Amino acid sequence: MCGIIGFTGGGNAIHKLLDGLEALEYRGYDSSGVAYFADGALKCVKTKGRLSSLRERFAETDDSAVLSGIGHTRWATHGEVSDRNSHPHGNSRVYGVHNGIVENYTELSAYLSRRGYSFESDTDTERAILLIDCLYQSLKDPVKAMMQASSMIKGSFALGVVFADIPNTVFAMRRDSPLLACPSDEGMFIASDISAVLRYTRRFAIIEEGELAVLTHNSIRFILPDGSAREKEYESVTWDTSAAERGGFPHFMLKEIFEEAEAVSRTISGRIREMHPSFEIPLFEMEIPKRIHIIACGTAMHAGLMGKYAIEKLARIPVNVEIASEFRYRDPILEKGDVVLIISQSGETADTLAALRLAKERSVHTLAIVNVVGSTIAREADSVLYTRAGPEIAVASTKAYSVQVALLYLIAIRLGEASGKLSPCKTEQLCRELENMPEYIEETLNIRERCKAVAERCSAHHSIFFIGRGQDHALCMEAALKLKEISYIHCEAYAAGEMKHGTISLIENGTPVFAFATEEALLDKTVNNIREVTSRGASVTLFVRAGLKLPQGIADEVIELPCVRELFMPLCAVLPAQLIAYYTALTLGCDVDKPRNLAKSVTVE
Ligand code: AGP
Repeated sequence: MCGIIGFTGGGNAIHKLLDGLEALEYRGYDSSGVAYFADGALKCVKTKGRLSSLRERFAETDDSAVLSGIGHTRWATHGEVSDRNSHPHGNSRVYGVHNGIVENYTELSAYLSRRGYSFESDTDTERAILLIDCLYQSLKDPVKAMMQASSMIKGSFALGVVFADIPNTVFAMRRDSPLLACPSDEGMFIASDISAVLRYTRRFAIIEEGELAVLTHNSIRFILPDGSAREKEYESVTWDTSAAERGGFPHFMLKEIFEEAEAVSRTISGRIREMHPSFEIPLFEMEIPKRIHIIACGTAMHAGLMGKYAIEKLARIPVNVEIASEFRYRDPILEKGDVVLIISQSGETADTLAALRLAKERSVHTLAIVNVVGSTIAREADSVLYTRAGPEIAVASTKAYSVQVALLYLIAIRLGEASGKLSPCKTEQLCRELENMPEYIEETLNIRERCKAVAERCSAHHSIFFIGRGQDHALCMEAALKLKEISYIHCEAYAAGEMKHGTISLIENGTPVFAFATEEALLDKTVNNIREVTSRGASVTLFVRAGLKLPQGIADEVIELPCVRELFMPLCAVLPAQLIAYYTALTLGCDVDKPRNLAKSVTVE
């Protein structure tokens, strides 16, 4: 996740900016930079790689007379990881840093080019900052220029901006992306996360959407679009620095579970332009594929299973989902018109990368769904769709799964629309419902305490089963992986209808069984399978889509999930699975974020 800091006040501004960026390092980044006032002009130093490289550039710098500046750690979403794509962006007159995604940067590029601007980077951010410069040159008023720019930029932004002819004043505004204004004894800060300034202050005010914050060495003004000023109360955080790195959450995994709604929203927004079926998704540079092979590992493969259900349902294209380590060694049959769809959060998983290379050797078109911009898989695939989950720190993948599934739904809709299987009206309806899913993800998190209680009960067991049918079976596979990889309890996901063919012999009195039932057409069958295990002593917790009719007493506990389109239910149903895994591991005293034997990215075979 990108990080923003700005400061104006007493001296040593460069080192205050670097300290702040250091506090934001945990969020993950791939480049960093600062812009500051010195010797009567704006200067900018930025570099890809670790923050230590940036700090080294100032090892011999006396910044005691440097009174203000802005800083940024970038997690690339537009444009490769490089010095020139690092923030801040600007020219000799203005510099700015940006979190978020400018969806209309193509239009802004044309607008600016027509006015004589050229660009040094591939980033959407540079277009936004140069737009501010362009407007400032014509309006001669920084507040009007920023407000006008805000109305012209589509998408999300948190912006920190400095103007060369307005020394030691920092301007800040935001839409969707968080940004704080923080007064301190040393001067005034802006920060995308309070953890950046905790060593100087615990006080902050949220910069509201539509407001412009103007910071000088001893004041912060909040200006409304009509130019009037707004008085604000400052709050204080009670977090310690280390807790703040996790945004106040006790573990990254829990933080990332609670980021899922925002991550899904960021991942799909901007890809459904004005709700029309003309997506900005670069699909397979071909007509409709004859067959799609989804290849991945672990959680990414489980997300791929959801993609299979969606693509086969909406576009009626056959989809084969396979574990990369199997695919790469079985001399797979790949034919002209096939597409290989690679899924990987890290973009570095060895088996998945090998599968990608095999597909390319066979001259089959490859599309990668990747979270880490510029990663090996992203660079080697014929085309790439980035999920915008932000860095996923916890080894157990949570928000990456959700954004992968959401993007696969979007691909399925796009293929359905392109193949004529979906009418424009149906396409638009599906897009609208998918865009609303983040609010249902948030709503599902209300069962957090019930999941915690369930987890505490099941943590005493050594064998746990997850059963479901159809896409619920695919969900059970992810649920079992989550629980086993961080609690070290043996778990098994099983097709509910298959239990009676042998595995049911493992059910004993009190064996915990989690059942998922989100598809009405399969409910009765799943109910029968629940009865099969309860009659042998299992203790069943059933997660069901609200509104489905259940026989009285069918399970020891029934937990309802929001009632959304069945196809999109996994985006809600995965949350209790993740929460139960988290709380079980916590109950057992396991290292939730760094479970034994595991690595975040498996770059070995
Ligand atoms: C999931 O919780 C695990 N961390 C693991 O299964 C992971 O999904 C798998 O290693 C694939 O990683 P990737 O998405 O980075 O390729």
